[in-house]
Amino acid sequence: MVVSDRERKAGSAAPAGKGRRTAPVPAATPVVSPPVPPGRLLIRHLLGLEGVCREDIQRILDTAETFKEVLDRPIKKVPPLRGQTVVNLFYEPSTRTRISFELAEKRLSADVVNFTASASSVQKGESLRDTVKNILAMKTDVVVIRHPCPGAPHFLTRATDAIIVNAGDGAHEHPTQGLLDMYTLWERWRSFAGRRVLVLGDILHSRVARSNIWGLLTMGAQVAVCGPATLVPACLAQLGVEVFTNVDVALDTGVDAVNVLRIQRERQSSDFLPSLREYSRLFGIDAARAARLRPGGLVMHPGPMNRGVEITSEVADGEASVILDQVTNGLAVRMAVLYLLCGGQAPTASERESE
Ligand code: CP
Repeated sequence: MVVSDRERKAGSAAPAGKGRRTAPVPAATPVVSPPVPPGRLLIRHLLGLEGVCREDIQRILDTAETFKEVLDRPIKKVPPLRGQTVVNLFYEPSTRTRISFELAEKRLSADVVNFTASASSVQKGESLRDTVKNILAMKTDVVVIRHPCPGAPHFLTRATDAIIVNAGDGAHEHPTQGLLDMYTLWERWRSFAGRRVLVLGDILHSRVARSNIWGLLTMGAQVAVCGPATLVPACLAQLGVEVFTNVDVALDTGVDAVNVLRIQRERQSSDFLPSLREYSRLFGIDAARAARLRPGGLVMHPGPMNRGVEITSEVADGEASVILDQVTNGLAVRMAVLYLLCGGQAPTASERESE
């Protein structure tokens, strides 16, 4: 049985039944956490958006806005992470996330170390735990990890003292992608109330879908998902998400933004789709479907895109597309996440108003 620190501190750690004393357990001493200064994050690591409170998400969005302004300056560098070392630990391929984290770290003046599993002692059989312990023995402060196994970042929080940031763990979560998607919407809408976001495609295998669902629901948006019945878990309805298997019906409900997911052929262990051509016909976003979004509707995609499968080039490069804005915003959001996790404070309301 796993006994949590909280149970241990409360003096009720013995399991029921065999071995448990019958004497009354002393009243639990309340565990009082020190107050968190205003503007600081309540979370210590960013492992996923499930369970992250609205205030923390808003702090990240507000802080990202200040860093976005930095990215437009002639000298795009600020000093808050000077003296801190960040390791980017990538066990899976990545273009956007990896470059974006590295740039974010450099823009914040951190020292940056990049680790690629395919060119490391992982190839000689070294475990994740030993790899990270060795890297941390070199006095590093933050680990950004992408790993094919769901829960790998959570495991590291138990194995090390470093700050851990999940850059995508299997089909579980991709929290900075969820945050940059939300930032892209928030910078246009300023509020999620009354807005409906449709997440379209391979929901089953998508960490991006999961992070978007948790984050958007927390921020008060309406969330719908749509895809082939084989790729949409019906249990999502229990979270308050509307579930569709017909994209035209989903679009008829009034959608402010559609987040088009990539068909992940590498994660599909069995045949979930009859053919890519049929998927494209039944679920692909083309100009006719994009035109059915609400006025001012936005088309998003986390990348990499399968052009001609889940989205046509006409839409990907068209007026409603914010796909490259997402990439730009990813840099500001990752700067905000690293800055806040390392102890920075989000701007106050008066600081935001004076900007
Ligand atoms: N969106 C995303 O995670 O892209 P990469 O796999 O290229 O990092």
